[in-house]
Amino acid sequence: MDVFRIQGGARLVGEVHVTGAKNSSLKLMAVALLAPGKTVIHAVPNILDVTIMAELLRRLGCSVTYSAETETVEIEVPETIEHRADYDLVRRMRASIAVLGPLVARTGAADVALPGGDAIGSRGLDMHTAGLERMGATVANEHGYLVVHAPDGGLIGTHVYLDFPSVGATETLLMAAVTANGVTVIDNAAREPEISDICNMLLAMGAQIDGVGTSLLTVTGVSSLRPVEHTTVSDRIVAGTWAVAAAITGGDITVRNANNEHLSIVLEKLITAGAEVEILSDGFRIQMNRRPTAVDVVTLPYPGFPTDLQPQFIALNSIAEGSAMVTENLFEARFRFVQELSRLGAEVRTDGHHALIRGRSQLSGAPVEATDIRAGAGLVLAGLVAEGETTVHAVEHIDRGYVGFEEQLSALGAIIVREPSPQIF
Ligand code: EPU
Repeated sequence: MDVFRIQGGARLVGEVHVTGAKNSSLKLMAVALLAPGKTVIHAVPNILDVTIMAELLRRLGCSVTYSAETETVEIEVPETIEHRADYDLVRRMRASIAVLGPLVARTGAADVALPGGDAIGSRGLDMHTAGLERMGATVANEHGYLVVHAPDGGLIGTHVYLDFPSVGATETLLMAAVTANGVTVIDNAAREPEISDICNMLLAMGAQIDGVGTSLLTVTGVSSLRPVEHTTVSDRIVAGTWAVAAAITGGDITVRNANNEHLSIVLEKLITAGAEVEILSDGFRIQMNRRPTAVDVVTLPYPGFPTDLQPQFIALNSIAEGSAMVTENLFEARFRFVQELSRLGAEVRTDGHHALIRGRSQLSGAPVEATDIRAGAGLVLAGLVAEGETTVHAVEHIDRGYVGFEEQLSALGAIIVREPSPQIF
């Protein structure tokens, strides 16, 4: 385990290039299971979760190679695949659940270990399973596994209404529906750009999907799909994190390979906080020339404000002028990191899914611990402006969402080093 040691106070200036979205790449790798043959996916970030997903696909019978240099994964899918996703892999990465839909679609069955809760909340699967049941599958919870069987002859198209536009449930049902019999309508579907990315890859593979990018997806089942070559959508959360990095440090950062449309609400909030944003053809430039003004944020499914940028905005508000209310509507435990942020002197009070932040003129460096990817990013951003030294522990969480975060920060002028965690005993 490593730590980041940060000396606060540097203004970040320069240019960064954003790679493909983690939360899309992992699902696109699962999509590959739907078509025998060779799938090639570009702009796949070099993170541990990609290694875990590659291993999971290998256990299902695929051969997988990943080049960190070209950020390309090649997946050779055999005619016959296994249908069991073991606990030892699933427990390491919740996104493993993305194989559920493709396995039922391809093999008529799936045994997928239950991922369990994690540091940001309980994260249920009820909408995934209820949707599959509506399509005729039987679902049982046996010995820690979700055991799913499609009816003889395959899944049957139907109308599924999601109680909530869940990203994961939309993906599972979409991947299950593309080769089902007849028409499946996914109503109240999630509209995240990563879902559209999956739809676009599926369309290229020969799937029939209407309503891409909307909350009503109509999927007409086809008998088979063909493998394709696809490039992952740019990571809007990484791009948004760089935008906050500029705003919090009074910096000037040009973010390349970002899709500004996917960040409309985020950039708008940063303008409200006092930043100047220049829209470029391949991203944006963001400058901040004064102390930020506190901004209220309410997390909601896309196109609402992303929960994955909530901790970064709490960090920004903690040094802003004035007070802000941040409301978290997606994950019940996503304020857990606030306790760590308080160690830097931030003044944050939480009550249920609301956090009230009173901006301080200065934070004070201290040891803190990253509890998940985005909490870790928020703590690093706070450390960049805290007076003195901040040590962020458990950076393996941050590594799961940000490739070479400390190297990129250093290149922008931050004083940050990675060190092995000090051993006490
Ligand atoms: N939920 C249920 N039942 C379900 C499905 C979801 O109760 O059947 C609940 C969850 O417990 C959660 C809420 O609905 O409280 C939202 O869950 P959703 O399914 O939308 O999210 P997810 O698929 O589990 C993905 C990302 C998250 C991101 C959310 C929301 C991946 C691997 N994860 O999670 O990313 O925050 O969508 O946009 O794609 C991250 O990258 O740090 C991260 C946590």
